Amino acid sequence: MNKELFINELYKMIPLELDEAWDNSGIQVENSKDKTDKVLVSLDVDENIVKEADSIGADTIITHHPLFFNGIKKIGNNDRISRVIRELVKSDIQLISFHTCFDKMEGGNNTYLGKLIFGGGIISTLDDQGLLKGVYLKDAMRISEIADIISEKIPMPKERMLLVGSKDEYVRKIAWCSGAGMDLYKLALDKGAELFITGDVKYHQAFDALSNNTAILDIGHYGSEIIFAENLVDILKGNEAFKELDVVKSKLDTDPFNML
Ligand SMILES: [Fe+2]
Repeated sequence: MNKELFINELYKMIPLELDEAWDNSGIQVENSKDKTDKVLVSLDVDENIVKEADSIGADTIITHHPLFFNGIKKIGNNDRISRVIRELVKSDIQLISFHTCFDKMEGGNNTYLGKLIFGGGIISTLDDQGLLKGVYLKDAMRISEIADIISEKIPMPKERMLLVGSKDEYVRKIAWCSGAGMDLYKLALDKGAELFITGDVKYHQAFDALSNNTAILDIGHYGSEIIFAENLVDILKGNEAFKELDVVKSKLDTDPFNML
């Protein structure tokens, strides 16, 4: 399809205005083509993902995490960003990212994560921006049961999750924020959540939280966001505006952490 139309339709579907002020969603690297026919969707980008896109004939990569946050001073040889820029330019592939705008939008990361874990429960938005979502379960569930469900639905084994609180506790009011969401923990507490699910919890945050009645389940940054690609692929495939587009989920999205 026409590239300009593709970009316009994308921005209509995922409003960039929803982005946090510090964020940088949108086009990261342009290509020189007039048309966009094949898109590879992934959580992150490295040179292997650009090579994957090139090998399947994709002219576009869409990621969750933007390539650029801060101005870059040089394109070198020894860092991921530089290597990605080289590969993109070499293969004439454009890179677009949808970060916090996609976390917040209806049907985006946080809504999708909630639906995946809690099925048909009614998901509500608990903060002004739309990053903190919550559910009030009809029947209380044990935290270990919730962790079991999460490990079935996303590629994150229970052994990799961390819990502040007791796994045998029963909870009904649950809040979550995908990615590194601890900034919203206090608000989740104020909203009466009994369990807060997020990623990237730090030691001191966990220690401070120990005395509160709100348990924290850290399912990892990767664990809480790997759903991005499958969700966006479905959204694009289900939108009439993109019917001419070939959309593929990356096979190379990788959790940087290994288990010993
Ligand atoms: Fe993230």
